Amino acid sequence: MAELGNDINRASEILNAGGLVAIPTETVYGLAANAYNDDSVVKVFDAKNRPSFDPLITHISHKNILESLTTSIPTKAQELIDNFWPGPLTLVLPKSDKISNLISSGLNTAAFRMPKHPLLHELLEILDFPVVAPSANPFGYVSPTSATHVNQQLGDKIDYILDGGESKIGLESTIISFDDGQPTILRLGGLSVEDIEAVIGEVKVNIGSSSKPSAPGMLTNHYSPSKKVILGNIEDLIEKYDSSKIGVLSYNKSFERYPNFVLSKGANLEEAAVKLFSALRWFDDQDIDIIITEKVPDIGLGRAINDRLKRASIN
Ligand code: TXA
Ligand code: MG
Repeated sequence: MAELGNDINRASEILNAGGLVAIPTETVYGLAANAYNDDSVVKVFDAKNRPSFDPLITHISHKNILESLTTSIPTKAQELIDNFWPGPLTLVLPKSDKISNLISSGLNTAAFRMPKHPLLHELLEILDFPVVAPSANPFGYVSPTSATHVNQQLGDKIDYILDGGESKIGLESTIISFDDGQPTILRLGGLSVEDIEAVIGEVKVNIGSSSKPSAPGMLTNHYSPSKKVILGNIEDLIEKYDSSKIGVLSYNKSFERYPNFVLSKGANLEEAAVKLFSALRWFDDQDIDIIITEKVPDIGLGRAINDRLKRASIN
């Protein structure tokens, strides 16, 4: 188990020495290392068992730092920064040579985000470097939304976990790229498509998952908990899997005959997003073989929730 606390000086000391620190963000917990130290960055890939073709997001403390890390910032990207940073939005932009090929997996673009979390912000302010931070989970598993989640799975591979409470959004950041100036969403996440379109107009959504190295690491079966997940109409699935040990992950209705996690009794998508990943983890400890679940309304954060449920349900 890792050392756990809310001491930003301790966290800074470890990062300065090239170590790994799990950090709280408003989306999910990240596994941070000094972005200017390739030896530390390698440790991140190793700890997560992450393939080197899956590039990392660089996290910065202030908007103005972005300039030195990129070679150009399209107008629409700047508008999004002005409106949504700090916040759950990651921009893919042409990288400057301050971002190593290790971070960008050899691509000439890299991903950047300014997170919104008071304790993390304090930490980033006392560091002389940005940090890379993928979600702090083993590759392919559900992202962590609490310090405990991180400790359970990566505790023995991390030097320190900065405990900043439960993640307020609960879904990873939305990722958007600007190839040929055309804004394209590569990952649905904590900032809704509607909010983005309200600022820069229509955007393409291309979350077609892939195992292509040049595409984002949206491998089809990402975000899988250890139990099998089946997505559909809950009542129908209960009938169909009658003879199996089932658990039910529902949006707002209760299914009391089964181990049941209700995402939001009041049918609130923000609340459902906050609880989604801890819900998937909760079933790991239940005496069941399969998780039966359903889509939530496909609007706002619901689109990202449905995306994660779909991916969790593919084996
Ligand atoms: O909310 C988040 O974004 C969290 C917190 C910790 O900030 N981080 C996170 O990182 O989710 P990670 O590594 O789990 O997901 C980053 C995604 C990967 O799917 C990766 O392929 C994509 O960002 N990515 C990074 N650089 C890219 C690039 N140059 N082009 C396309 N996709 C990129
Ligand atoms: Mg991840």
